[in-house]
Amino acid sequence: MCKKPDLRVTLGDMELQNPVLTASGTFGYAREFEGLVDLNRLGAIIVKGLALRPTKGNPPPRIVETPCGMLNAIGLENVGIDAFTDQKLPFLKTLAPPIFANIYGTCIEDYAELAARLEALEGIAGVEINISCPNVKAGGIAFGADADAAYQVVKAVRAKTRKHLIVKLSPNVTDIARIARSAEAAGADSLSLINTITGMAIDLETRRPKIANITGGLSGPAIKPVALRMVWQVVQATQIPVIGIGGIMTADDALEFLVAGASAVQIGTANFINPQVTTDIIDGIELFLAQRKIAKLADLIGTLETKPSGPLE
Ligand SMILES: Cc1cc2nc3c(=O)[nH]c(=O)nc-3n(C[C@H](O)[C@H](O)[C@H](O)COP(=O)(O)O)c2cc1C
Repeated sequence: MCKKPDLRVTLGDMELQNPVLTASGTFGYAREFEGLVDLNRLGAIIVKGLALRPTKGNPPPRIVETPCGMLNAIGLENVGIDAFTDQKLPFLKTLAPPIFANIYGTCIEDYAELAARLEALEGIAGVEINISCPNVKAGGIAFGADADAAYQVVKAVRAKTRKHLIVKLSPNVTDIARIARSAEAAGADSLSLINTITGMAIDLETRRPKIANITGGLSGPAIKPVALRMVWQVVQATQIPVIGIGGIMTADDALEFLVAGASAVQIGTANFINPQVTTDIIDGIELFLAQRKIAKLADLIGTLETKPSGPLE
């Protein structure tokens, strides 16, 4: 009997049993998926974005389906760090995969305080910071849309945590490589991208926006080519591990990101269609490697060939 392919990947000094992670906001606090998918098979689990205080989010409607994707304006509804610690973490601690807390704030101090609170918590392997949020003190421009603001927020969080620090980048920028380099210079251990792309949908009968917030974040297969392009650019521009996110529905989608140089991937919108999609993707990656007699997934990462394949006729 042939040996199974080795799916292990590394994020800096952290080893994951496979490269398939859950994307924040699409997997609750993991317990919601208990009984639907084998949580212990995941590479790592990233939970819903946490704030210092509980947040109700935006009024409905706040989700609408669009061709090949969805728009959401949930508004970062979450239970807050206290309830997370008391009510959600005990279950998460029983699981084998590393747990990452995703955090956000509206000022640098919020991010720093959240990071300090998480640093003290057993059972949290790392922190993913969502910098797609408006910086209230800087007129509401998202931290992730400005290289300087990105640097400042990452530096403040870095000062408060020794845990693995993932910085999650916003795609709503003209030069993603510049923001990525800022996050790296400020001390990020790895980068994840992309968050949702700002979009809009209109109901022609009522001539009203289809979501109450007017604009929302586009996710799903519609954004995969943009995500893949940005991941590839960031891989070229930085030295730290990159985690690919955006429209991954199948093992082939995930493999494209890995070949482009991502060390791991996160699965978001696909969880709403098939709650077992993460383990299906793990199985699909294993099958792909076995069929091609590739012993180690790590050998496939970053093997994209961009030189022309030969003279044109
Ligand atoms: C309903 C919903 C809620 C989300 N909530 C968060 C969040 O709390 N924090 C965050 O960093 N990203 C959040 N995201 C973004 C996803 O983690 C992911 O970056 C994005 O959806 C692109 O991946 P996908 O196309 O696989 O969904 C959310 C996405 C969706 C669809």
